[in-house]
Amino acid sequence: MSAKMSNGEFKNDVAMRGKGVYGANSGQQHSAMLSALPLITKSVADSWGKRPYTDRPFTIAEYGCSDGKNSVEPIAAALRGTADAKHVQLFLSDQPSNDFAATSKNVQKIGEDGEKDGISIFTAMVPRSFYKQVLAPNSADMGFSLMSIHYVDKMPPLREGEFPFDTSRKETRRQTWEKDFCSFLRLRSSELVDGSSLVLSQLSEPPEGGDNFAVVGQALGAGAQDMIKDNLLSHDLFKHFELPTWYPEPERMRELVASVGGWAVKDLFQQEIEHPASVELKKRRAEKEDPEDLEWYAGKVIDWLAAVVSGYFLKTVAITAGDMNEEQREKLLQEWISRSKKRFLADSKDAKVTSWLVFARLQKC
Ligand SMILES: C[S@@+](CC[C@H](N)C(=O)[O-])C[C@H]1O[C@@H](n2cnc3c(N)ncnc32)[C@H](O)[C@@H]1O
Repeated sequence: MSAKMSNGEFKNDVAMRGKGVYGANSGQQHSAMLSALPLITKSVADSWGKRPYTDRPFTIAEYGCSDGKNSVEPIAAALRGTADAKHVQLFLSDQPSNDFAATSKNVQKIGEDGEKDGISIFTAMVPRSFYKQVLAPNSADMGFSLMSIHYVDKMPPLREGEFPFDTSRKETRRQTWEKDFCSFLRLRSSELVDGSSLVLSQLSEPPEGGDNFAVVGQALGAGAQDMIKDNLLSHDLFKHFELPTWYPEPERMRELVASVGGWAVKDLFQQEIEHPASVELKKRRAEKEDPEDLEWYAGKVIDWLAAVVSGYFLKTVAITAGDMNEEQREKLLQEWISRSKKRFLADSKDAKVTSWLVFARLQKC
């Protein structure tokens, strides 16, 4: 959850955990990114050679790059689609609060790899929300956004007596996301040249109901409950803790693209992405049952989700815990992570951790 504005609205200005923590704990996003690579190569191959502006470098934009750990392979996949690019311009964008120093370190490799292949790559980082115009009009030949557009721009205030987990509030999240998704498409439409493509991936509604990565969410909830019982966190925490996200059904996404107009849906599919630690645990336990593996697994999956939601936890603590400095809030975060690992180990042990994503390739027409 982000800072509360005076009218009770929540502007989502929260980024992933910085200093390399996100990159080190983004295994599932990495697996998901691998599924998007063929779409990226295909997009570039389709538009390469038909570009209206051949006198300027081929230009690729990423929306929601985080610390860049999962940007290197998509860029390499894009370059595979260009026959003989000499100059490439890259725009890597994310929230202004993103740790762009970490991004800078992780994306050095893109330029080095380009040099080896005889391509000069010019990388720019853009600290700006993708719910604003990020690039000048008609400036990109390809765009992609992986695991990022399920975040909304801002959440309206909760109604009197309403909780984030209420059905009415879920409906507000759905409506907010739908409006924001349409606005995202309109903004990208002005930035990308005609005939270029936008590749998207995001969390989606599981086809048979239930929640994505439910067991991890439950452990984090239980860890927080334990801390509330021990008076380490305020009872108000659950009144305010809300991830400003929505996971749509794939067909709803298709309808929304059609409603915006100007985009042809070239590919749109849903895929289950199991957390790589979940895959690894199964392999290990097929050989032998070692309790240390379960501890390793609890650590992996809790650290993974915590790298994504820590910023929201810290903001909520800032609102609900009264006078507390940054160091004290950080201590509470570490306690939460540690208790949640214990709860995962006690309640879910070797349960599968999985998410459903929707992947799309849209062409601007
Ligand atoms: C789960 S991470 C995904 C990062 C990376 N694409 C990957 O696949 O590992 C989601 C990213 O979306 C970014 N994000 C969320 N809302 C955003 C917004 N309005 N504008 C720009 N970036 C945003 C977050 O800051 C975060 O870096």
